[in-house]
Formats: sequence, C-alpha cells, structure tokens
Amino acid sequence: MNNLIEKNIFLMLVLILLGVSFGGMVEIIPLMSQKILTEPIDNLEPLTALELEGRDIYIREGCNVCHSQMIRPLRAEVERYGHYSVAGESVYNHPFLWGSKRTGPDLARVGGLYSDDWHKIHLMNPRSVVPKSNMPAFPWLFENTLNRELSPKKLRALQILGVPYTDEEINKASEDLINKTEADAVVAYLQQLGTVIKKR
Ligand code: HEC
Repeated sequence: MNNLIEKNIFLMLVLILLGVSFGGMVEIIPLMSQKILTEPIDNLEPLTALELEGRDIYIREGCNVCHSQMIRPLRAEVERYGHYSVAGESVYNHPFLWGSKRTGPDLARVGGLYSDDWHKIHLMNPRSVVPKSNMPAFPWLFENTLNRELSPKKLRALQILGVPYTDEEINKASEDLINKTEADAVVAYLQQLGTVIKKR
C-alpha cells in the first residue's frame, strides 16, 4: 500500500488534500457553532451612521495598515492596552479590522483615551502632539464633507448581513452626517472603539 502511494504521485496528492481538508474542517466547523464566538457581547450596539462613515474613511486612508485592532491575551498587551479583544465585540464588523501589523499602537480600546480635540490635532499633524511620531498627517479630512446619499445604503447592506439596524435608523442615517467633516466621522469612530468592555 505504502509503495503504491509513494509511486503514484496523483494518488498521494488526492490523499494529502483529503487529509488537509479533514484537519481543517475539524478545526473550523466546531467554531461556527460556538456562541461565545458568534454572538454579540452584552450592550454591543451597531455603529451609528457617522461612526460607520468614519470606519470607511479609516479603511480608505489605510489606517488599518499601521494599526491593529486586536489585543492578544498576553500580559504585556493587556497591561498596555486594556482587556484583550473578544470575538463578540466584532460580530457587527464587516470586514474585521483585527490585523497584526503594528507600526503604530493597537487601537482596539483607544475610545475615550483622548479628547476629540486631541484626535483632531493629532490627525491634522501628529508631530504637534507626539513629537517623534512617524504617523502621516491627514489634513484633507478636515476639508472633505461626507457623502450623505450613500449612508442609508451602507446601513441597509449591513442589515442584510445581520447587523441589527432598524428601518427607522436606516431612513434617518443621512441626518447624522449633516455639517460633518470626514475628520468628525473618523474621530467619532475612534471614540467608540473598544468602549463596551472597559477600561485600562
Ligand atoms: C504609516 C503608519 C501609520 C498610519 C497610516 C496611521 N498611523 Fe496612527 N499612528 C502611527 C504611529 C507610529 C503612532 C504612534 C505615534 C503617535 O501617537 O502619533 C500612531 C498613533 C495613533 C493614535 C494614538 C494611539 C495611542 O494609543 O496613543 C491614533 C488614535 C491613531 N494613530 C489613529 C490613526 C488614524 C485614524 C489613521 C488613519 C487616518 C492612522 N492613525 C494612520 C502610525 C500610523
């Protein structure tokens, strides 16, 4: 038998694929039915329309390329950033922004750590509050206003994916964005990050 598998590379390939898929399924499928991984934690609210715009800008500007949103359950991380991240905090996030690349600090619990004004000054020019920072400046966020037409559609798309927005919230979504800049939206997004589980 061994001889047969070693000599027939095609058979070996099929058996390897079977073995790997079986191993994968054993690991992945039980996770799908574990409530602790699929259910929201207590008091978790979907992002407001303004926070959601902020999240989209966060992705557009590549903030997630330098900042993870995933605190590992290790002492050094928990002492620096606060309670480790749990799966139930991100069930309304599509897609997740966990990441592992940390050019800057993890932002999973940055909400409430600084004032809105601090964030604005920092986004306008990081060096004015953190002299050695190598984070880029994002001055255009203060000039751009938000596209209010798309907002209800974004909420609707998330509703289809299972985020519990009510129809009323969706219809009123664009009101949330009146007279707001992109910077306002990013700051609103940052200020709620990780605030359901508190605190460092
Ligand atoms: C090129 C990498 C890079 C990019 C892109 C980047 N940052 Fe940063 N960020 C850093 C670094 C490095 C620091 C630490 C120094 C500082 O505080 O400025 C930092 C710090 C921060 C902090 C303070 C965190 C803390 O706990 O003190 C916030 C908030 C932040 N960034 C938000 C953002 C947002 C929002 C964006 C996108 C608009 C962004 N960053 C894009 C590198 C980056």
